[in-house]
Amino acid sequence: MAFDIDMIKKVYANFGPRVDAARKIVGRPLTLSEKILYAHLWDGDPRKAFSRGTDYVDFAPDRVAMQDATAQMALLQFMQAGRPQVAVPSTVHCDHLITAKEGASVDLPHARTESAEVFDFLSSVSNKYGIGFWKPGAGIIHQVVLENYAFPGGMMIGTDSHTVNAGGLGMVAIGVGGADACDVMAGLPWELKFPKLIGVKLTGKLNGWTAAKDVILKVAGILTVKGGTGAIVEYFGDGAINLSCTGKGTICNMGAEIGATTSTFGYDESMERYLRATDRSEVADEANKIAAYLTGDSEVYADPEKYFDQVIEIDLDTLEPYLNGPFTPDLATPVSQMKVEAEKNGWPLKVEWGLIGSCTNSSYEDLSRAASIANQAIAKGLVTKADFGINPGSEQVRYTADRDGFLKTFEDLNATIFTNACGPCIGMWDRTGSEKAEKNTIVHSFNRNFAKRADGNPNTFAFVASPEMVAAITIAGDLGFNPLTDTLTNDKGEQIKLDPPTGDELPTKGFAVEDAGYQAPAADGSSVDVLVSPTSHRLQLLDPFTPWEGTDLKGLNLLIKAKGKCTTDHISMAGPWLKFRGHLDNISNNMLIGAVNYFNDKTDNVKNSLTGEYGPVPATQRDYKAASIGAIVVGDENYGEGSSREHAAMEPRHLGVRAVLVKSFARIHETNLKKQGMLGLTFADKDDYDKILEDDKIDILGLTEFAPDKPLTLVLHHADGSEEQFPVNHSYNAQQIDWFKAGGALNIIRAEAAA
Ligand code: F3S
Repeated sequence: MAFDIDMIKKVYANFGPRVDAARKIVGRPLTLSEKILYAHLWDGDPRKAFSRGTDYVDFAPDRVAMQDATAQMALLQFMQAGRPQVAVPSTVHCDHLITAKEGASVDLPHARTESAEVFDFLSSVSNKYGIGFWKPGAGIIHQVVLENYAFPGGMMIGTDSHTVNAGGLGMVAIGVGGADACDVMAGLPWELKFPKLIGVKLTGKLNGWTAAKDVILKVAGILTVKGGTGAIVEYFGDGAINLSCTGKGTICNMGAEIGATTSTFGYDESMERYLRATDRSEVADEANKIAAYLTGDSEVYADPEKYFDQVIEIDLDTLEPYLNGPFTPDLATPVSQMKVEAEKNGWPLKVEWGLIGSCTNSSYEDLSRAASIANQAIAKGLVTKADFGINPGSEQVRYTADRDGFLKTFEDLNATIFTNACGPCIGMWDRTGSEKAEKNTIVHSFNRNFAKRADGNPNTFAFVASPEMVAAITIAGDLGFNPLTDTLTNDKGEQIKLDPPTGDELPTKGFAVEDAGYQAPAADGSSVDVLVSPTSHRLQLLDPFTPWEGTDLKGLNLLIKAKGKCTTDHISMAGPWLKFRGHLDNISNNMLIGAVNYFNDKTDNVKNSLTGEYGPVPATQRDYKAASIGAIVVGDENYGEGSSREHAAMEPRHLGVRAVLVKSFARIHETNLKKQGMLGLTFADKDDYDKILEDDKIDILGLTEFAPDKPLTLVLHHADGSEEQFPVNHSYNAQQIDWFKAGGALNIIRAEAAA
């Protein structure tokens, strides 16, 4: 499994001097988040103070982690970079492609067969390029990272939004798109806007039914799903020290649900205990040597309002357990008020399923506390009124929980033990009857509860809670059940009250595992073949995109003038298209099918200028490509908001779209377009959007003198023979202009590697 102690020692050797230098330059005490950021500057020693929320900064992350759905395109791109090995320690985790149905013993072999070609590809490409490979069943990416790779003060990126989970071990860990992961693995800097900082002061100690999960459920209720945008959330105070390391991971994990860039905690004894319990005493010893640097300066925590952009205080002594939902993770209701709220809002009180797992809450401690409730239920003659499912977070957790009797306890309560994988959390749940779309309620310990997320049924009301609360409500079968005050009737007709959960932060007998599911890469991968069948529907090796032809672009067809919101989901839908994430040509059949055509208010219905007929967007663009006619996409405000998935930029590039012209871009999508060698342009005057007509032929002029800060010119040739022209802006710097000219950033990286 090989956590890289030499890399960690190197990071720590630089950490103190860089933090000292940053403190001098910034001229004040530093938060932990700032220390980690300044210690990971691409240029090395800090030379200037950065403005939060304004400056874009190049960083040098220590690690990269990828899950199986997003790793495919990240690694297909990496193969284009011409590098023999990854430049930083990297891992792949097979956790998203395993459907939960019968239980692990049936589901896992089924998934291995169903997605064999994807797993074989990921295994072979990892083997070749020096990437650690975690097989299907090894566990959920973020649990495995916390158990094996996360380290205090480190910086990592991962191709999954819950990469932030590693903040539980004091990292700055951030979710990114595959193109960013590819850059870092190729040895290039990674750019991030220097984040704002939100401080959360925790006082007191969790007690009774309240769990770490309730801290973040409460924070989500305060900050809402957008409240953390562009910020790192830093937790501190005596309450933080009182939390377990995996509890801290739970809190950081769901920072993604408030839009935070990431969340983190200062190094403390809980982290040291966890490092030692997971066989990383060497890391703990190294961290102890620079412990003072691995937390915020004491002056910061003594007067947080002065140093953070926003401060929240939560008293753990008085914090109540929460149930958040339905349909959004920030709708926070204390368990004591849920009955009233559910009745008032018409949320079904009868609970059909209780699910424990996901990267958020699948640690040993989580299972032990939930098992303590299950044990009581059995001892007191209770049964579960709802169906019950458990996804352990990793094989190490599963094996140890099995040894310590937790899984038997759950099974005695009729629970199904699903694979150590995402399962229902990513909608990979073959739930019997969900196709009937009946109104129903489930409770789970996951992080997201958007409509259709778990089972595809828009009428499933999903509520998020701690694992122990999920266990209690599953036994009661009643969303309004409050275990702090309510009783249940047992098999003898007696009224039974459940005692508060108990559990072990870490296994008293230590963790154990027979086969953790790890495959180390070949020491020399040069002779390893990457396995991709030329007839595969799910995987396709990438061909380099063609370079710019050296002339202005003339006679482009308007593919679509998108109206209103056009997110990366509108440009490259998820759901059933997930299985084509490794096959650019096949996934391109979803290109822009969610975008609304300005001229007829319909989705996936545009005029084909070659035939005059209306048809689907991808098919229309394929006709243009076959006729060697370039095309342009026009969009509205904040085009490309949402996820960082690079498919939204690669698909139009692959199908021959040459430019995307919009009122404004979401920044990550704009960068992704640039990386793929596309022109991403903005209207100098947003009213010019109205001048674009359905049958226009369009020229883009000025490309032969393409330069930073120099607008280009757009010429519209209208069908009636008239012409209009106006300036369009761009934000390309000199390097990005080179990307455009070369046909994409990867072409340059490859050329450099070959030189
Ligand atoms: Fe997997 Fe759900 Fe986490 S999809 S990575 S368990 S958020």
